[in-house]
Amino acid sequence: MNEPILEREQQLFFHTYKRLHLEVERGEGCYLFTKDGTRYLDFFGGIAVNALGYNHPRLCRAIEEQIHKYIHVSNYFVQQPQVKLAEKILSASKFQRIFFTNSGTEATEGAIKLARKWGKSLGKTQLFGLSNAFHGRTMGALSLMDKQKYRDGYEPFVENFGHLKFNDVDELRRAVNEKTLGVFVEFVQGEGGIFIVSQEYARELQSLREKYRFLIIGDEIQSGVGRTGKLFGYMHTGVTPDIVMMAKPIGGGLPLGAILGNDRVAETFTYGVHGTTFGGNPVACAAGLVVLEEVLDKGLMRHAEEIGVYLSARLMQLKKDFPALVTDVRGFGCMIGLELSMDGQAVVDAMQRRQILVNCTNVNVLRFVPPLIITKEQCDDLITALRSVFEDLKK
Ligand SMILES: Cc1ncc(COP(=O)(O)O)c(C=O)c1O
Repeated sequence: MNEPILEREQQLFFHTYKRLHLEVERGEGCYLFTKDGTRYLDFFGGIAVNALGYNHPRLCRAIEEQIHKYIHVSNYFVQQPQVKLAEKILSASKFQRIFFTNSGTEATEGAIKLARKWGKSLGKTQLFGLSNAFHGRTMGALSLMDKQKYRDGYEPFVENFGHLKFNDVDELRRAVNEKTLGVFVEFVQGEGGIFIVSQEYARELQSLREKYRFLIIGDEIQSGVGRTGKLFGYMHTGVTPDIVMMAKPIGGGLPLGAILGNDRVAETFTYGVHGTTFGGNPVACAAGLVVLEEVLDKGLMRHAEEIGVYLSARLMQLKKDFPALVTDVRGFGCMIGLELSMDGQAVVDAMQRRQILVNCTNVNVLRFVPPLIITKEQCDDLITALRSVFEDLKK
């Protein structure tokens, strides 16, 4: 790539991101093209954002049409794209109410506030997050998370937040009581390395909710909108949350998030108690409607499910063939993790040299979160390249 731009970036920005040495010019479907014309197959998907891939004609058209109508008017105004997207999400999900945000972490913050307001008159104060979860970068989100990597240096955290060990049913039973306000659950952990809440844990959570009347709050920011082959990740576990956070794909690549609430919390947020200038931007909502229609009505969610079955089977074969390198395959649909016995960076770099972009999370998990339009043939290309990288590593 053009190295001077990287040097300029280093001088200009806080050093929060380790950038890839690629300068993207454009995208098409599941491919990215760099300035020198090299084509890369993209299993990053904008980190689980680009559900429809790049340059999707309907998506681009909807954005363009809305831009010419109005780009922003503020939430003093009723906006048709917001209302249409709200109707689509609520009718598909069976939740009662929605609030649009700009991002995932703002959905987390809003969900914390919704839960706190709901619990105030009931004397419920204690919120829990699960270990290894990721809910965002703002102070409320960090308070829910236990990983030092994200929290270090940001103390003190918000009060009355505790952490429970992921899938530890006994600890859950000991921790919750009448004072419990809610438990935040990322049913399919993304950043954490594709770990799935067990059926047993989900069942226990559900029965403890009935006993103590707390809220279950599902973080579907990464796993939502059909990525796992179902509308939401929690649908694999048999438990339905009271509040759900969404973001990433729902704006078709434009910044958009949402908080959904059921009838228990439907009347909690009243005039003026929460708000945002940009949240629910009409262009993002117009884009989101196309995403939801493509995923739900045009068969993309079913396709994601099939891809998951196919890709998992092919990755399992790699695990069999390279038992010293591959330790596990986890996930559903277009959200699959391949756990390695080594730091994944060398594999990521070697894949990039083979013109395939993959992301490594939690040190040793290759995370595949491609656009939901990915084909079996493109999955075969991934497997062929991985096989060749693993052969090299064995030498
Ligand atoms: C599960 C989950 N929750 C919350 C977030 C935060 O979203 P954002 O980066 O849009 O603030 C992310 C982002 O990776 C996520 O994966």
